[in-house]
Amino acid sequence: MTETSEPRVAVIVVAAGSGTRLGAATPKAFVPVGGVTLLGRSLHSVLGMSEHAQVIIVAPSEFVDDARVIAADVAGAAAAAVTVVAGGETRQQSVLAGLDRVQDSAQVVLVHDAARALTPSALFERVIAEVDARGHGVVPGLPVSDTVKRVDARDDIVETVDRSALSAVQTPQGYPKGDLVEAYARAREEATDDAALVSASGRRVSVVAGDPMAFKITTPWDLRRAEELVSRPDDSPRIGVGTDTHGFDPVAELWLAGLHWPGEAGLAGHSDGDAVSHAITDALLSAAGLGDIGGTFGTDDPRFQGAHGEVFVREARRLVENAGFRVGNVAVQVIGNRPRFAARRHEAEALLSEFVGAPVSISATTTDGLGFTGRGEGVAVIATALLLHNAGAVSRSDT
Ligand code: CTP
Ligand code: MG
Repeated sequence: MTETSEPRVAVIVVAAGSGTRLGAATPKAFVPVGGVTLLGRSLHSVLGMSEHAQVIIVAPSEFVDDARVIAADVAGAAAAAVTVVAGGETRQQSVLAGLDRVQDSAQVVLVHDAARALTPSALFERVIAEVDARGHGVVPGLPVSDTVKRVDARDDIVETVDRSALSAVQTPQGYPKGDLVEAYARAREEATDDAALVSASGRRVSVVAGDPMAFKITTPWDLRRAEELVSRPDDSPRIGVGTDTHGFDPVAELWLAGLHWPGEAGLAGHSDGDAVSHAITDALLSAAGLGDIGGTFGTDDPRFQGAHGEVFVREARRLVENAGFRVGNVAVQVIGNRPRFAARRHEAEALLSEFVGAPVSISATTTDGLGFTGRGEGVAVIATALLLHNAGAVSRSDT
């Protein structure tokens, strides 16, 4: 028997509701967010777990075939592990229809609302791990942040409910299979979640940390929020590369890495020939997708005629910061016989770090006598810059 044919975990994805509060033309689970249906997104999260689980989709009876198409699309080769069944009039009946198809091998059963389409795979994994560790049911929940009032029939406030004792629960909810089967067999009343039935049957159910992304798409407002979340621009870090080469000009003063090097042969160039500063400038612009030094600081612009490297680096920093980034760090390698960097490396690093507002590290190497740098004709520099999204950095530290 393979691992997938004898899964230890079954996940029932309930998608048989009509979505009256959303008011879309199709049942809610078949409404797209960012071009992918809620059911497709939920399935994607389920299949993203490291655990190979049996997956049961409960769909409206007229949409069983559509659900199969979505399953084949999302699951590909793993679609064989996905079962699709028709649901019932209520969520409870739909869960029951799914429960009926859980394989004997399953010891833990998760029930998930397809409407919580942005739930990360990690939450499914956390719920399974907690059921395994505790041996009883767990549901993800979030603390309630609003002040909650109990009101009477006239909407007059009766009291403030102690919100520290409240949890807004989500799905996936996970249970030892026996607990869930027993609770559904004994259920006499309709409940909006599984924990209510399992608790009513006398079994323990605990709340574990939920995830804000597991919010339920119920109203058109929720759908818009989901659309915005999936369309959010990628906030991963960006790297950029820059190189610069200048030939020696024995009559010029040497300016390199923002420093003046008395007694060393200078570098030829339109500006001060500071190849380190120019490579850093290109790396910063490259990481932000802002082109290169030639295009940004035109050689005929008098502001940059004979300008020191600092001017270019500080201007590049300003441009990338305006584009919504901040510099993470910059790494530079200088290739050439002279000047010898060792003695002034820390001085150069401190100065350049101040220019870019982030750590700059410098290493130096020679080419064993080969090429123009080996022959002592000039210096080549390679710089790599890492940029972080400013907004992304703020929201990450907030969460
Ligand atoms: N559900 C179900 N079968 C039902 C009712 C609901 O499988 N008869 C599922 C829904 O598809 C949804 C989850 O249960 O994924 C949570 O229900 P809810 O958000 O209330 O969805 P709907 O019932 O479809 O929406 P509404 O109540 O607005 O009609
Ligand atoms: Mg409903």
